[in-house]
This record gives sequence, C-alpha cells and structure tokens, in this order.
Amino acid sequence: MGLGLWQHECGGSLIHPQWVLTAAHCVEPEDLEACAFRVQVGQLRLYDHDQLRKVAEIIRHPKFNASLSAQGDADIALLRLEEPVMLSEHANLVSLPPASLRVPSRKMCWVTGWGDIADNSPLPPPYHLQEVEVPVVGNEECNRHYQNSSDSSDQVIKADMLCAGSEGRDSCQLDSGGPLVCRWNCTWFQVGIVSWGHQCGHRDFPGVYTRVTSYVPWICRHVPLSPAP
Ligand code: ARG
Repeated sequence: MGLGLWQHECGGSLIHPQWVLTAAHCVEPEDLEACAFRVQVGQLRLYDHDQLRKVAEIIRHPKFNASLSAQGDADIALLRLEEPVMLSEHANLVSLPPASLRVPSRKMCWVTGWGDIADNSPLPPPYHLQEVEVPVVGNEECNRHYQNSSDSSDQVIKADMLCAGSEGRDSCQLDSGGPLVCRWNCTWFQVGIVSWGHQCGHRDFPGVYTRVTSYVPWICRHVPLSPAP
C-alpha cells in the first residue's frame, strides 16, 4: 500500500478475491480515503512492474483508537478492492482460523514482508519479499517483558494481541499489516497481523501482532468468506 508517490508502507493479505486484511494503523489518519491507497498483489519484488490496484472501501475496526494506535485495541482493517483479483499461483487466498483456535506458545509460525531487515535498515533493492520463522510467545510472558519497561501499570499486551519472535527473528517497521501464518494439518492459517514491537529482533521484546481469532466474527460480518478447507 502507498500514498502519493505510491511508496510501500505496509503489508496485507488477500482473504477473499476482493478483500485485503491489514492493520488499522496502516490506514491512518482516519480521514484518508480509499483513493489514497493502492494494493500490489502477486509480486515477490516491490517496485518490479508494479500493478497497483485501487481500493474501493476501507473498513477500520470501530474499536481502533487512533491516539493509542497499534498499542490500543483492534489494530485491524479491511480493504475492498475495486476489482476482484484473478487467483493464480502467485496470488492466492490465505485461510482465516476458526475463532476457537488456540495458538500454543512456542509453536513455530512464519511472518513475511518487505519491511526493514533490522532496526533502521531498509530492505535493499531488488526489494525481494522476506520471510522468517518465529516462535509464538504466550501473552503472559510477553506482557511481563513489556510491562517491565513501561511506566504504566496497565496490561501492555492485551487479549487481542499475540506475540511471536526471538532474538534476530522478528518483523520490523514497514512489515505492519502483513500476515503471521501457522500450519495445522497441512493448512496455513493467518493467526496474526503485524502490529507493533519495541525495536526489532530484540531478545526480550517479541513482535506484537493483532490476534486474528479475536476478530474472525467481525471479519465475517463484512466479508463473504467461504468455509475453511
Ligand atoms: N509498527 C510497525 C509498522 O508499522 C511494525 C513493527 C513491528 N515490530 C516488531 N518488532 N515486530 O510497520
């Protein structure tokens, strides 16, 4: 997605031929209209024969709070594309998990994106999509780490967040909105949306994702999804 000169800002995933799942903070501020964004589908390299698709509608989760941004609730948004994507080997849908799915700590999952490859290190040309395997970290453990470095006594890692990552294995700036997927019985489910984190790849601070299972009912209210395989 981009703005103005169509610069990469965030990731997203195709959950229906005409709908992209992303982070709400990626489509901030709220007065930005659908025409301020484009979506690139089906390419491994950014800026390589870009075929940008227009967005017809943005649905931000009503609980997303712009002043708290990613660190508040519901960092999730849906983009409806003007035209459905022709599905192919290069552009396919990701399955959403059942809302009841529990994602166990230490399960190994994958995150992808064109974001920074380390703190303050942008992805160099030819801007090839990156992927990294990350272990899920339980909310309680994750909160303990983040709470220690926070001055508020409020819980930092909310129930609708999911942590994943270990030293050197993390998403980073400009990966936001992109998918965290895990495999169960040969099916990949998107369990997270890249949302925030303290630095990148830091041993004590896993990446923080929007927990997709918390929002499956909301997504289904807006997107006509077919049942999981
Ligand atoms: N907020 C960032 C973005 O907008 C994502 C940061 C993810 N950080 C992390 N350590 N996993 O791209």
